Amino acid sequence: MLPKDQKLETPPEIFAQDQKNRWSSVESSIWGLKSESPEENVARSLARTLFDQPRRIEPRFLYDERGSWLFEKISTLPEYYLTRTENAILEKEAEQIIALAEVECLVELGAGFSKKTVHLLSQQVNQRGRGTFAPVDVSLTALIGSRDSVKQQFPRLEFHGLCACYEEGLLSIERSLPTLFAFLGSSVGNLDRSDFDRFFQLLSGCMGPDDFFLLGVDCTKEEEVLERAYNDVGGMTSQFILNAFENVNRLMGSNFDQRKMRYHSCYNLQWQQMEMYAVSTSDQKIDFPSLESGFVWKEGEQILVEISRKFEPHQLEQQLEYFGLESIAHCNDPQQWFSLLLFRRCSGRSQSGQS
Ligand code: AVJ
Repeated sequence: MLPKDQKLETPPEIFAQDQKNRWSSVESSIWGLKSESPEENVARSLARTLFDQPRRIEPRFLYDERGSWLFEKISTLPEYYLTRTENAILEKEAEQIIALAEVECLVELGAGFSKKTVHLLSQQVNQRGRGTFAPVDVSLTALIGSRDSVKQQFPRLEFHGLCACYEEGLLSIERSLPTLFAFLGSSVGNLDRSDFDRFFQLLSGCMGPDDFFLLGVDCTKEEEVLERAYNDVGGMTSQFILNAFENVNRLMGSNFDQRKMRYHSCYNLQWQQMEMYAVSTSDQKIDFPSLESGFVWKEGEQILVEISRKFEPHQLEQQLEYFGLESIAHCNDPQQWFSLLLFRRCSGRSQSGQS
């Protein structure tokens, strides 16, 4: 007799055969990698970027429990048009998108609480009566929130949350399963030029001929609109960015002092990106006890916490062709502030460029 729990522990079919044994259940319907010693990785990855010049930290450190909550708050602010605009496009176009992308599985990268995704999920249920939703996110809190609401709203969908970074998620999904990969919220804007290249190489390598890719991107627009969106009058964005250092302190035992830093953001016109920094307001000695090292964060010195790139959608579609992605649909809001782009794997064009 097989106990029920043991059955629950078996990794589901969305995982590629050779990847299944790397994952174990961390919560009901949520999977994590077995062999991750997070402490090690975190300290080393932070040290690599903080000892670089200009100093920076990776944006994933923004999303501890408080950070995930602060971002949810930001996404409802009048100045922060992104979430609202994308949600309206999704609401209007989900039917068409799901009709084009005939899939069994929706994998959402950096899903957060998956609030906007419900439009896609409800169309999947309406049009096909079944399907699997597999959000990938580093935040367990967000995945639990997503699981609880999706299971309740869509009892006909299978839910499997992957608590991991995009790369690990992508590499573990079974290739033969017709899948729509969704990367919404302009999270792609967080990737710098080399991350961007690596991400799209990996994604296109993980996609099969029956797979689709839905990308939500924030478009270039007047600087004032952008600067307002990332510097709200209530100071929520400032709290969100500076909170990353509380998270770093907790993870590394370091001593970044909130009272000695301020938030600074600006739009970099040439690089078409918002840049979000913490600036030290007086010299402070930062210690990393576990690494037995540290540095002096000088007064006025900036640490880059996040970039948010803005895109020209047609140029982006053209660029992604060279990663093997062919654009098949393109939707905007009336102001053309935000775009949703749907792609499939190119079949004709050879990746080596020999047509
Ligand atoms: C979640 C990366 C899309 O870049 O707009 C919001 C994060 N940072 N306000 C963005 C963010 C400051 C957001 N993304």
